[in-house]
Amino acid sequence: MSIGITKTRKVVIVGTGFVGSSYAYALVNQGAIDELVLIDLDFERADGEARDLNHGMAFGSPMRIRAGDYDECADADLVVITAGANQKPGETRLDLVAKNAQIMKGIVKQIMDSGFDGIIIVATNPVDVLTQVVYKVSGLPKERVIGSGTILDTARFRYLLSEYFQVDSRNVHAYIIGEHGDSELPVWSHVQIGGLPLNVYGQIENYYQDQDMQELFENVRDAAYHIIERKGATYYGIGMGLARLTKAILNNENSILTVSTYFEGEYGLNGLYLGIPAVVNQFGIREILRLRLSDQEQQQLEHSATILKDLLNQIGY
Ligand SMILES: NC(=O)c1ccc[n+]([C@@H]2O[C@H](COP(=O)([O-])OP(=O)(O)OC[C@H]3O[C@@H](n4cnc5c(N)ncnc54)[C@H](O)[C@@H]3O)[C@@H](O)[C@H]2O)c1
Repeated sequence: MSIGITKTRKVVIVGTGFVGSSYAYALVNQGAIDELVLIDLDFERADGEARDLNHGMAFGSPMRIRAGDYDECADADLVVITAGANQKPGETRLDLVAKNAQIMKGIVKQIMDSGFDGIIIVATNPVDVLTQVVYKVSGLPKERVIGSGTILDTARFRYLLSEYFQVDSRNVHAYIIGEHGDSELPVWSHVQIGGLPLNVYGQIENYYQDQDMQELFENVRDAAYHIIERKGATYYGIGMGLARLTKAILNNENSILTVSTYFEGEYGLNGLYLGIPAVVNQFGIREILRLRLSDQEQQQLEHSATILKDLLNQIGY
């Protein structure tokens, strides 16, 4: 598959709840694509979102938006899955994973039955596990099944570091890797502010022991809990993150983003999806970046992988 600049850039979103519609809104505002199709189990909801977004057209860049069905995936460049069930009272995390894995299976079958031959992005949680389910069920090459991974966590990390040091977050380079969830880790050894490592710019010698840095990371890791406590869900940040990823793919940017990617021996890990910086372009994942992790970071990454492997084993993937 190759995306020429004269070709219509078409995206299909499956699941137009908070996350799907925030992503659609970001795409419209950024004029990132030419054609957008919204699919939801609840067609009326998708149709309502399409109508609402179309009414902003006079204020933004022209593009075509409509609610539709899976046959629309046939000529799409990108299908982005943001559909999923939420945890019900009394339901365990594992129940929810198994339920969402079943939902993914059904969705992917319909996408592939259309003749789709593009790239799939998954944002539904637990995103690393469900991206693996989509990869296995779709039969697409690993490069073309991408999870949103830790793109949002990395953005939160850069934002909080920028606040702490009072430097524009675009000049802060830092990664959160591993599971998008409780076992994720900050790669302190590679944090750079204006090209300077943390011990030079921030004069922080031992980032693992430093109380401020520890608290800062905890605020990144627990950000979703803090937002959900206050407003019930998180969606703007991930919506913008998905738009960023979409542009990296459709504009063939070779951007480095911490997406969830399939490991085949990198960092000594095999057979699972995890958040890691990777080069993203029109073919999907070009390569995984090989960071020189400290021993502590390598151990934490392996711990994160073990947790995800257990979950994958429990649901049979
Ligand atoms: N990856 C991230 O960083 C990140 C951040 C925030 C939220 N999320 C995840 O995104 C997912 C969606 O969150 P939300 O707040 O938008 O939820 P939501 O409940 O608002 O929306 C989910 C939508 O999916 C639809 N849906 C359910 N089953 C479907 C199916 N089989 N086919 C088509 N549509 C279906 C529902 O009708 C609903 O419109 C959740 O799993 C959430 O945890 C991920």
